[in-house]
Amino acid sequence: MKVLVTGGAGFIGSHFVEFFLREYSDSTVVNLDCLTYAAHPDTVDRLGQIGGNRYHFYKMDIGDPQVAQVLKAHHIEAIVNFAAETHVDRSILDPQAFVRTNVLGTQNLLQSARKAGNLRFVHVSTDEVYGSLEPQDPTFTEQTPLSPNSPYAASKAGADLLALASQRTYQQDIVITRCTNNYGPYQFPEKLLPLIIANALEDKPIPVYGDGKQVRDWIYVEDHCRGIDAVLRKGKSGEVYNISSSAEVPNLEIIKKTLALLKKPESLITFVGDRPAHDRRYGLNPEKIKNELGWKPKYNLEQGLQLTVDWYRQNRSWWEKVRDQEYFKYYQANYQPKGSKTGEVTS
Ligand code: NAD
Ligand code: DAU
Repeated sequence: MKVLVTGGAGFIGSHFVEFFLREYSDSTVVNLDCLTYAAHPDTVDRLGQIGGNRYHFYKMDIGDPQVAQVLKAHHIEAIVNFAAETHVDRSILDPQAFVRTNVLGTQNLLQSARKAGNLRFVHVSTDEVYGSLEPQDPTFTEQTPLSPNSPYAASKAGADLLALASQRTYQQDIVITRCTNNYGPYQFPEKLLPLIIANALEDKPIPVYGDGKQVRDWIYVEDHCRGIDAVLRKGKSGEVYNISSSAEVPNLEIIKKTLALLKKPESLITFVGDRPAHDRRYGLNPEKIKNELGWKPKYNLEQGLQLTVDWYRQNRSWWEKVRDQEYFKYYQANYQPKGSKTGEVTS
């Protein structure tokens, strides 16, 4: 299969590209990514070495009309759209960038896919579009109404609705995946797990937003990639598939587990102000993808966390390189929820 992967220089996208090239020796992957701050400088070369002449890279924005020419030039059969602005805290600081890429960019891709002859289109979305659960609520199913709370989640919900509308209006071959919180190697160290690990390894404080009792549903990144692949190959057009390992854990608990694996003291835990509109709990029901497509996760939380901690320990230069960048220092200095004035920007 000849696949266009967007956002393949980011965390999950790069894992998917690697998985796809290794799993299918007759595949070709075209990676299209505009290389924002979230793309690691080494990723493009690393994937190039794995893929050889079965791999091509375009530094291009998904909102660029030239995407249509890339599809044509490589006789692309399917698109997997990972490209997005993805960090909730940043969406609170600058929602515009999220609307530009997540909504308008996705719309340009949908249109380009239609012009190129109705390619299979997998749109990678998130459980955050469903909003927040109370402790006793049942987990989100594909039928749960969308109720996003952050600008990030709202922009992803907008893209999901445009994708479903394109499927119905133009009979495009479109499927949507919605997954929970991913973790694993190569995740940018602004997200909770890599941030905890990197800070702990440097004996720096671990910032915990609010009371730390918010619950997230964790999945090892490789399991997510295999779920997307199952949907790409077997998913029914117009359908949404939730992907989850059913591992709901309160933030404080996962932080303590991680510190224990690293043999670092809990005294590093530092409570800070809360994220505005902070979703209390995510929990996703994966029965549909399990029953209809035969997917199931390979890793439980203990196995996944151990692999992740080991990787960050052994690959310090990877995360130190991005933590040294000016943009990272600026963001860290200017966005930390503070005291009672939550999510305050200090300059
Ligand atoms: P990431 O932030 O690590 O990577 C995003 C990639 O997209 C980067 O390489 C970036 O350069 C690229 N990109 C951003 N804007 C672009 C544009 N306009 N044109 C081209 N490329 C652009 O993201 P991630 O965590 O790997 O998430 C990938 C996808 O999975 C996103 O759509 C996200 O919403 C979804 N998702 C993520 C999680 C998670 O826990 N990380 C969970 C569920 C769903
Ligand atoms: O649920 C899927 C989503 O998971 C994806 O769609 C998003 O792209 C991804 O960023 C992630 O969103 P979260 O907001 O859940 O992830 P984040 O790592 O930012 O935060 C996880 C939890 O930890 C959340 O409750 C906020 C809290 N947190 C986060 C950071 C960065 C802290 O307490 N301290 C921190 O420093």
